[in-house]
Amino acid sequence: MTDQELKQEILRLKKEKNAVILGHYYQRHEIQELSDYVGDSLALAQEAQRTDAPIIVFCGVHFMAETAKILNPTRKVLLPDMDASCSLAESCKADEFAAFKAAHPDHMVISYINCSAEIKALSDLICTSGNAEKLVRSLPADQKIIFAPDKNLGGYINQATGRQMLLWNGVCTVHDAMQAEAILKLKAEHPGAPVVAHPECNAALLRVADFVGSTKAMLNFIKQHNSKQFIVATETGILYEMRRENPDKEFITLRDDKSCACDDCAYMKLNTLEKFYRCLRDEQPEIVMDAAKIEAAKRPIVRMLEMSKQLGIIK
Ligand code: 13P
Ligand code: SF4
Repeated sequence: MTDQELKQEILRLKKEKNAVILGHYYQRHEIQELSDYVGDSLALAQEAQRTDAPIIVFCGVHFMAETAKILNPTRKVLLPDMDASCSLAESCKADEFAAFKAAHPDHMVISYINCSAEIKALSDLICTSGNAEKLVRSLPADQKIIFAPDKNLGGYINQATGRQMLLWNGVCTVHDAMQAEAILKLKAEHPGAPVVAHPECNAALLRVADFVGSTKAMLNFIKQHNSKQFIVATETGILYEMRRENPDKEFITLRDDKSCACDDCAYMKLNTLEKFYRCLRDEQPEIVMDAAKIEAAKRPIVRMLEMSKQLGIIK
């Protein structure tokens, strides 16, 4: 089938099956185009909780689809490619993390949503890059905290808040590989262009960024800023939405520096139009979890959504 035929079939099946399509900003542009909701991980978790569609096709990575299942367990949740994992989730294995937690019994555990259901079940509170700093700030100053699995996001929050959270040694291999030197070179070539970066980038890169925030926060910053050029330090999938919202603005990426082709997440890009079509047609692969696992992982995610509403981060 041609791409056009695949798109038509996806739209037909979506209607016939009353399915909702949730797509992350890092998905291929043709997948974002077909999604009912495109968002960051926080907004997509909310949509997953809200929807009454019987089928959710989650075009993102495994932990995101798993979160959708946890929040709305009576729905059928499909992921076009079950191998769409995440280096952060992979970096934090439940047995090792349980031992780390046991060694620090006076610490509360905050985990970034980029982790498995097993890690969520070991956590007191989940966060996303869209709410992490505010959630941490809302906790008593003397609260001891373990932050997992992203040491870059955790380190960024420590630096911003003056906290000393204990950090798990995990990274997003995509963002961590982006180099401050390459950004500085782009800055010299494009003076005045603000640098926007995702907090999963390493500390040296974040130091030279003008704005640090989640995918949604970067989009908001760009929309409101009057510069005509921006240097973008995050996964390239987001350029689709950046260009769609700001047709008059130019986006420069690390790829333009030619010394780095590190800005594609291989996991996110495993989902293709063809796999998306087959997944909706066959209702496979499906996220299947037992009730006890869902219950254990749900508590800290619901706590995150409730605190985010109380703090005015989401509606
Ligand atoms: P967001 O929370 O900005 O959606 O980021 C998720 C992610 O996986 C970034 O690499
Ligand atoms: Fe995971 Fe990084 Fe890919 Fe996001 S970009 S899904 S954190 S590997």
